[in-house]
Amino acid sequence: MTVTLSPRALMSLLANGPKAMDVLETALTMGLLDALEPGPARLDALAARFEVRTLRLYKFLDCLESLGFVTRGQQGDGLAGTTYRAVPGLRDAVAAVVGPGALERDRDRYPWRLLHGRLAESLRGEVSMSDDDFAWPPKTDAQTADFERSMAVGLGPVTETIRRHADRLWSDRRRLLEVGGGDGTLAAHVLDSTPTLRADVYNLPAVAPLVAATRVERGHPDRLGFVGGDFLTEPLPPGYDALSFVRVLHDWPDEVARRLVEQAYAALEPGGLLLICEEFRTPDRLAMQFFWSYFLIGVDSCVSRLREVEYYTGLLKEVGFERVAVLPGGWELVTAYKPGTAG
Ligand SMILES: C[S@@+](CC[C@H](N)C(=O)[O-])C[C@H]1O[C@@H](n2cnc3c(N)ncnc32)[C@H](O)[C@@H]1O
Repeated sequence: MTVTLSPRALMSLLANGPKAMDVLETALTMGLLDALEPGPARLDALAARFEVRTLRLYKFLDCLESLGFVTRGQQGDGLAGTTYRAVPGLRDAVAAVVGPGALERDRDRYPWRLLHGRLAESLRGEVSMSDDDFAWPPKTDAQTADFERSMAVGLGPVTETIRRHADRLWSDRRRLLEVGGGDGTLAAHVLDSTPTLRADVYNLPAVAPLVAATRVERGHPDRLGFVGGDFLTEPLPPGYDALSFVRVLHDWPDEVARRLVEQAYAALEPGGLLLICEEFRTPDRLAMQFFWSYFLIGVDSCVSRLREVEYYTGLLKEVGFERVAVLPGGWELVTAYKPGTAG
């Protein structure tokens, strides 16, 4: 059962956000979430197993229930017979948010506090992130390395979807151009599972040393290449039968996104495959994007907009691509082919 809270109720949770996170972190580290997920677990049995006081645990579980993370039932009379079950996937979700290497922890390193309490000034354009705080695209080598590292942390849903459809995607492909391909982490993942493929990362020249490091770390000395360039000022290089934009197009306004898709069409060989993967807009993903929506209010050079998947499927058809499809996964993958026969 999905319960949608009223705005007023949701605000009570938000106002107590740090306490809610404390509850979740505690439930994770105690191992309570492992016990609750298979459920139903009786309150008295849980209290005995975790050596805690029954009434205190009841209140703790009320906190989890108020968040919509556990459901409650009853076996027998009284408080002790109350049973609980966690919503499926709760343990992994909590680990992803508060566990080691968590995305939200990584995001917290960014200087969002510069905007905090000054949003009205920021909206008016009086307060912004300076290039020293956060430049988009990154300007210094340190900013570049920092940004690409934190991008690589969030690649999980993309690699999962691409791995799931690897046979269909790569079986007849020889050369992939990973446009805006970060430090090459995703390209390396693709190469891991497809020994017949070569991949070049296309990125700003400053990223070259990061891709070189990935090439060594991931053991692809001959198959992972780098092409330095700026897709805003020069065409994409030709000679590829596959080309990908992963979390690239959402950074740019419509006219630039369209131009990049047109450039991809021009660069691809006949029969060439274009892949687009990013967080296509849904209520869930917009919520998970909250940090960037907030932080980037102060960064005019980055558009950062989640678009519906239909925006891209429509654009691809308009530009001339055919066999446009949306492959399912943690994040969906849009695929399309340039007309013609692969050589
Ligand atoms: C949001 S990151 C995504 C990185 C990677 N694809 C991922 O999903 O982890 C956008 C990427 O586009 C690259 N980029 C930004 N502006 C660019 C430009 N003008 N030309 C080429 N690459 C650019 C950045 O360096 C960065 O690697």
